[in-house]
Amino acid sequence: MELYRACYRSQIRWNKMHLPLPDEIDKTLLRIRRINRKAGVTGALLLVDQHIVQILEGQTGQVLDTVYCVMNDPRLESIEGIIHEPVDFRMFPNSLMFFRDLSDGVAASQHDVLRPLLDHPGDVTREEAYAAFGHFAKELQEGRLTNDMLMI
Ligand SMILES: Cc1cc2nc3c(=O)[nH]c(=O)nc-3n(C[C@H](O)[C@H](O)[C@H](O)COP(=O)(O)O)c2cc1C
Repeated sequence: MELYRACYRSQIRWNKMHLPLPDEIDKTLLRIRRINRKAGVTGALLLVDQHIVQILEGQTGQVLDTVYCVMNDPRLESIEGIIHEPVDFRMFPNSLMFFRDLSDGVAASQHDVLRPLLDHPGDVTREEAYAAFGHFAKELQEGRLTNDMLMI
């Protein structure tokens, strides 16, 4: 099975949000995790002030279909592709959509690899995206190893 990874940054269109942001996020995550489960798509979504940065992984066709859905979502605009490539493994194999809100800057002040996502008015590079998402992928993997050791 060929795996594909796509990552993009997009600006949020606040005037297209129907609910207060936390409710909009909860409702959207519920919906997209349900769709992603059916499509076999996994990934991570980071909220960064006026932007979101998302990574999507799965079978090529399914990932490209998902990108197409995202591009047609009225709540997002100015979508910039960061990563588009076939890959050998998933960074977020067990996450139908991992989510973190980095807007308060606390996580970025503790972890340098997250800073480029916040600081950048310009493009986020492929390397910066990999470093930032790699931070969370590692955190999840370490959590799983601990759980395995504790047999929980
Ligand atoms: C921030 C954000 C992330 C999204 N991520 C996904 C995703 O991971 N998978 C997906 O299928 N759609 C994703 N979408 C697209 C919407 O969820 C999708 O267009 C919407 O659910 C349309 O379906 P509906 O009108 O049937 O609810 C995303 C949309 C936004 C705003």
